[in-house]
Amino acid sequence: MQTSILLRRFSIGLIAATLIFMAIVAYFGYFRTVNSGLDFTNTLHIPPLIEPELQNGEKVYTLALQKGQQAFIDGVKTNTLGFNGNYLGPTIKVSTGDNVRFNIINELDEVSTVHWHGMHVPPEMDGTPHQPIAVGGMWQPHYEIKNEASTMWYHPHTHGRTAHQSYFGLAAFFIIEDDNSKSLDIPQTYGEDDIPLVVQDRIFTDAGTLFYPGNGGAFLGDSILVNGTYNPSVTVDGKLVRFRILNGSNSRIYRFGFSDGRTFHQIATDGGLLEAPVALDQVKLSPGERAEIVVDFSDNQTVMLMSYPDPNLLAMVENAFEGGSGRFEILKIEVAPTDSVSPPLPTVLNVIERWSEAEVDRVRPLQLAGPITQVDAETGEVVARNTGSGRQIPINGNLMDMARVDEVITLGDIEIWEVTNAGGIPHPFHVHDVQFLVLDRDGVAPPPNERGWKDTTLVNAGETVRIIAQFTDFASETVPYMFHCHIMEHEDNGMMGQFTVVAPSSEYAGSDGYMLDLDPMLHGHMDH
Ligand code: C2O
Ligand code: CU
Ligand code: CU
Repeated sequence: MQTSILLRRFSIGLIAATLIFMAIVAYFGYFRTVNSGLDFTNTLHIPPLIEPELQNGEKVYTLALQKGQQAFIDGVKTNTLGFNGNYLGPTIKVSTGDNVRFNIINELDEVSTVHWHGMHVPPEMDGTPHQPIAVGGMWQPHYEIKNEASTMWYHPHTHGRTAHQSYFGLAAFFIIEDDNSKSLDIPQTYGEDDIPLVVQDRIFTDAGTLFYPGNGGAFLGDSILVNGTYNPSVTVDGKLVRFRILNGSNSRIYRFGFSDGRTFHQIATDGGLLEAPVALDQVKLSPGERAEIVVDFSDNQTVMLMSYPDPNLLAMVENAFEGGSGRFEILKIEVAPTDSVSPPLPTVLNVIERWSEAEVDRVRPLQLAGPITQVDAETGEVVARNTGSGRQIPINGNLMDMARVDEVITLGDIEIWEVTNAGGIPHPFHVHDVQFLVLDRDGVAPPPNERGWKDTTLVNAGETVRIIAQFTDFASETVPYMFHCHIMEHEDNGMMGQFTVVAPSSEYAGSDGYMLDLDPMLHGHMDH
C-alpha cells in the first residue's frame, strides 16, 4: 500500500477514533476497563439443544420470544429477553436437506422478527422487518436447509430495535451438519468437545442490573458474557476441543487468543468448513461473524480465552472505537485429564468451488459511510443532505427505506460486490441470502482463514473489499433481502439497504432499483 493512502487512512482513523473516544468518555463520565477484577468462578452455561416434533416429514420447532428475569451477578435478578427462556435461547441443530417449520410466538410488549443469520432461505422466510410478528402474534416460517455444515444463528431484525432486543438476550445458535462434517474425525459432541461460545459485552449497574444506554450510535460494555454467563469458567477434557465462537456483541470487535499464546486451528468460517485447518494464534471477529476453532488441551494446562489488541497500529487505532484495541480475559478454561487421545485433525476438511472472474455477470459498487445524498427535485443534481444526526451512516448515500429496493439482482447471477468504506471506522458488512467469498482487500488476497464461506466481513476504514456470490433458488419482486452493517446500532440507525433477486423475465431484471408498494400495516410498524 502506498504511504499516502496509509497516511490518509491513519489520519482519518485517528481523528475519528479520538473524537468518538472523547464522546464515549464524556458520555459515561469515566473510562471503563473490561472484565477487571473477575475470578472466573461461574460455570459456563451451555445452551440446550431443542428437540423438534416430527410432523409430515418436517422438523417442527416452537419458539417463544419471552420477557424474563435472569441473575447474572450475585443473584440479582434483572429484566431480560429470551427464546423459550430468560436469556439467549436453545440451539437448533439440523442437517442439510432437513425440512424445518417453526411456530414462533411473540410474547414481548413490542413487535419483533426472527432472522436466520447466514442461511439461504426464501425472502419471505428470512425474518427481516418485512415479516413482523405482532405482539401476541405467531409466525410460521418453513424451509429446507440448503446450507452446508456451519454455525449460523438467529436473532430479531426488528427495524430500529435490533440492538435493543438482541442486547437483552434474543440471540441463539443454529448449527447445521452435513454428510461431510459428520464423516470427519473432528470433535462433534455438542456441549462436550464441541462447545458453542456466544460472546457479548454488556454493562451492569452497581446494583447488578443489565443496563443499555439506548442507541447512542454504538455500544461498548465492560462486562463480557459468554453464553449469558458472567465471570465464566468451563472445564474441558484434555484433548482436542472445538469452539464455535460467535461474536454476538452489538458493536465490539474481538481478537480472540489464549493467555499462553498457544496455537490453535481455525476449521470453519461463517458459512462452512475451510478447505484445510489454518494454524493461528489469534482470530479477529467483528459483530455477526463466527469462527470454529479446534484447540489442543492435552497439556492439561489451565488457560484464559482472551481478547488482544490488533498488532497493526493503524488497525488498532481504527478499531479503538469498536473495542478492538483492548486486552482482557474472557473465559477461564480448566482441563480434566483424560486417557482418550484425539486423532490429529484431518488435512482436508471441505471442497470449495470458486468462481472465476470470467463467470461474473455484474460488478456492483457499494460505498459504506461517506455523505448522505439525495437527488434535488428541481435540478436533478445529487446533493449532500443534512440529516441533523451524525449517527446516521449511509450505504451508497442512502439510509434504509423499507419501501426502496436499492439493488436488483437477476436470479442465478454471479456478482462481485466492491464494498468500499469511505469512513474512518471499520464496518462489518453482512449480506442476507448468500454465502460469499472474499476475493481481496485493497487488491490483496485474504489470509487463509478468510478463504472460506462468509456472510459478514469487516471492511476497514478506507478499504475496498471485493466479495463474490451467486444468487440462486429464490426470487421475489416484492419481498427484499437486506445488506447492512452488523454493528447493530449502525443498522438500527439506517446503515442498511435492500435487494431483490428477480427472475430473468422480470420487468425489473437488470434495473438499479424501484419502490415497493408496502402493506400499510407493515409501514405502520416502521415509523418511530
Ligand atoms: Cu444478523 Cu441482517 O443480520
Ligand atoms: Cu443476516
Ligand atoms: Cu457500521
